[in-house]
Amino acid sequence: MIPDSFKQDLLNRLDIVDVVGRYVQLKKAGANFSGLCPFHNEKTPSFTVSPAKQFYHCFGCQKHGNAIGFLMDYGSMGYVDAVKELAASVGMQVPAWQPRTPEEAKQKERETDLFALMQKAMEFYRGELKRAPRAIEYLKGRGLSGEVAARFGLGYAADDWQGLKRCFADYDDAALVECGLVIEGEGKRYDRFRDRVMFPIFNRRDLVVGFGGRVLGEGEPKYLNSPETPLFQKGREIYGLGHAREAMHRTGSAVMVEGYMDVVALAQHGVENAVATLGTATTPAHVSALLRLVDDLVFCFDGDAAGRKAAWRALEVAVPLVPDQKAVRFLFLPEGEDPDSFVRANGREAFARLLGGAEPLSSFLLGELRERSDLDSAEGRARFLSAVKPYVLQLTAPALRIQIMNEVAEAARVSEQDLRGLFGAPSGSAEPRRAPARHHSGAPASPEWHLLVSLLSDLEMIQHVDPALLSPELPETAALLAVRRVVLEAGEPPSFAVLIEKLEDDPHLEHVLRAERQSSERGFDQDNARQEFRDALAKLDLVRRKRELDEILKQGLGSTEERMKYQEKLTSYKRLQGALPERDATGRPS
Ligand code: UTP
Ligand code: MN
Repeated sequence: MIPDSFKQDLLNRLDIVDVVGRYVQLKKAGANFSGLCPFHNEKTPSFTVSPAKQFYHCFGCQKHGNAIGFLMDYGSMGYVDAVKELAASVGMQVPAWQPRTPEEAKQKERETDLFALMQKAMEFYRGELKRAPRAIEYLKGRGLSGEVAARFGLGYAADDWQGLKRCFADYDDAALVECGLVIEGEGKRYDRFRDRVMFPIFNRRDLVVGFGGRVLGEGEPKYLNSPETPLFQKGREIYGLGHAREAMHRTGSAVMVEGYMDVVALAQHGVENAVATLGTATTPAHVSALLRLVDDLVFCFDGDAAGRKAAWRALEVAVPLVPDQKAVRFLFLPEGEDPDSFVRANGREAFARLLGGAEPLSSFLLGELRERSDLDSAEGRARFLSAVKPYVLQLTAPALRIQIMNEVAEAARVSEQDLRGLFGAPSGSAEPRRAPARHHSGAPASPEWHLLVSLLSDLEMIQHVDPALLSPELPETAALLAVRRVVLEAGEPPSFAVLIEKLEDDPHLEHVLRAERQSSERGFDQDNARQEFRDALAKLDLVRRKRELDEILKQGLGSTEERMKYQEKLTSYKRLQGALPERDATGRPS
């Protein structure tokens, strides 16, 4: 709604130090300002505000953002309100209306139409439920009250091939097919959902984007879901989020279960903070969305083999996403039970007790891997180490990582020193600022990653990066290119705050933010940043030369002349290699 150009003007006109300074007492600390973080409890300041980047960052709780983000988080405001308030503080007026391009307008209109269609269908199915004693009996039989059924918008699709004709005057409307309500086959159209209890699926803005339809009793498939449509992507949506939001906020925790019915049954018994995936495996989108809302996320799975497998997948997704100040835990229900059957048989208190005893991520991780190796033999312990390693390297939460490393060292009977050597983590307790740069996966950082990290201190340097030299398969390359695009489009380098705003919908934003974190953690000033940037460029140049040398060798060295040329190139390669600083651009002492 708010034009991009306005947001940029606003961010350029604001000083984040002023904005934050209105709420937090800030002290100058070098090039930055620091203070006590307003987002978590602390006694020593780990909250910093960078005037150069127009960005704030807390090293304690990892909250970060520009002035708009600060106000949204601090004042619990929506985006538009935050922009309005900031604009008012510098005497700017948010333009009321922004003309859309005709395509945008059309697209938007189309989407609005589809949402309206889905809403209408939901209301229709709800009405149908009232006239379907069989369906009402079914839901009652599963212990649901009319009130809870209404709260979740449950409905019924009649046993009728074209039941929706009674809802939509134009049954031939292509939009009905587009949003997955109607199926088109061999010249005939018919309803996708017939004789099923309907669970509407709402998106984060509480609009209906899909349905799950359950057979009454036995039948295949048990649940039929809307197909992927322009409104509905299964891996993104979270069932029950709108209903759980308030309780999640109040309790600071969320329970992720497997089924629609589990969510509804838990709510029926007063457990209101439960949500479910839509029958898919847990995705990073699910986990990061929930971790943004709560501090404690419990995955609840069946205790059988399939449940443990699904839990392990969820763990793999969660490992790189969980920050130190939040907990991800796992709850396995007794064999043969799901949350619905459990809470119905044992009640809310018993379920709450189970939740209280849910297993922390670290213990599930190590317990599972321990079980797979025989820790009584040297070979078994070595096996255990190599199995743990990838997970430890993916952890981004520094304190949790140390905790887990300590446990691993003990279980595998190696010294912590040896373990750090094995896992390639920084050795000794080097001062964090001097710690070698690492890619977030824990692997040695690529020159591209160094470019990205150092570049963020001075976006102007992007003009020295030749995209042709970058390894295309790396995510940090994609992030670099995204930054480059924004800087080039802007004509002059935007502030970091504006850059973040412009990358808002870019899938690579996350890498840029990680790089920012690293650059702040390492306390870059412009000089270090430039030096690191030059080193990384030199390293890239070396990589290119090495490739060239390999290429020549592959072609073969026929004549003396060719051999001399090769020697020459090899010599200058070695000379350049030797000229790189002792901590070369991979971040490893060479
Ligand atoms: P479950 O088989 O565990 O079902 O599937 P449930 O939730 O316990 O259902 P009830 O209690 O028998 O009614 C869990 C989830 O997997 C998806 C649905 O999202 C379901 O809620 N699923 C399952 C499907 O999409 N299709 C199916 O045929 C089965
Ligand atoms: Mn069930």
